[in-house]
Amino acid sequence: MIIAIDGPAASGKGTIARQIAAVYGLHHLDTGLLYRAVAKAVLDAGHSPDDAQRATEAAVMLDPSKFEDNALKLQVITEAASVVAAIPQVRQALINYQREFATKPPGAVLDGRDIGTVIAPGADVKLFVVASPEVRAARRVRELRARGEVVEEADVLADLLRRDERDSRRTSAPLKAAPDAHLLDTTHLGIDAAFRAAVDIIEAVRAGRKRR
Ligand code: CDP
Repeated sequence: MIIAIDGPAASGKGTIARQIAAVYGLHHLDTGLLYRAVAKAVLDAGHSPDDAQRATEAAVMLDPSKFEDNALKLQVITEAASVVAAIPQVRQALINYQREFATKPPGAVLDGRDIGTVIAPGADVKLFVVASPEVRAARRVRELRARGEVVEEADVLADLLRRDERDSRRTSAPLKAAPDAHLLDTTHLGIDAAFRAAVDIIEAVRAGRKRR
C-alpha cells in the first residue's frame, strides 16, 4: 500500500504521515528532508540556493544518511529548500529515490508537495492536508521554540505564506492537490483528531475498493 500525503507548510502532514505509517506498519519518508539536505549541501559549500548547477550536483549526490541531521530543520535551511525545490533538474534528480522508497515492501507513506501528483500518481490513498495560515504559523512557532530557535510569530507567518506562494507557482511539480486526493482540513483538529480523520479516510477508501 502506498499513501501520499501532500499539503502546504506546517499543515500537519508530517505528524499524520508518521502516525499512519506506524499504525499500518509502512515505511515513512518525509520528502521535505531531501530538498532540505540539498539546500544544506549547497549552503555549506558556500553557494547560493538558486545556483541550478550546484544544486543539481548536490541532488545527484544526495546522502540519505544525513536526513537525521537536526540542522535540516533550521529556518535558514527551510527557506533555501523551497528555492532549490523550484529547480526542475533538482526535482528530476530526486524522483528515483522517492519512487524506489515508495515501492519497498510492504509499502510506504510519503509526505510532501507532489507525492500524489508526480511521485506516486497511482498511490492507493491520497490526502491533501490543509489548515489556516494563522494556525499553521502558531504550530510552527511552537516547534521552532521547542528547538531553541528565537522567532516571532509574524515572521514565521510571512515565511509560510512566501513559501506556499513559491511552492504553488513554480512550473515544476507545484504544490497542488491531485484530482483524486481527499481534503483534510486540520485547522480545528488536534493531533489525535487529525490522525483519526486520516484513518477514517483511508479505511473508507479501502472499504470502497473491496466492495467493487
Ligand atoms: O515542514 P514544512 O512543511 O515547513 O517543510 P518541508 O515539508 O520540509 O518542505 C520544505 C520545502 O521543500 C518546501 O517549502 C518545498 O519547497 C520543498 N518540498 C517540495 O518541493 N516537494 C516535496 N515533496 C517536499 C518539500
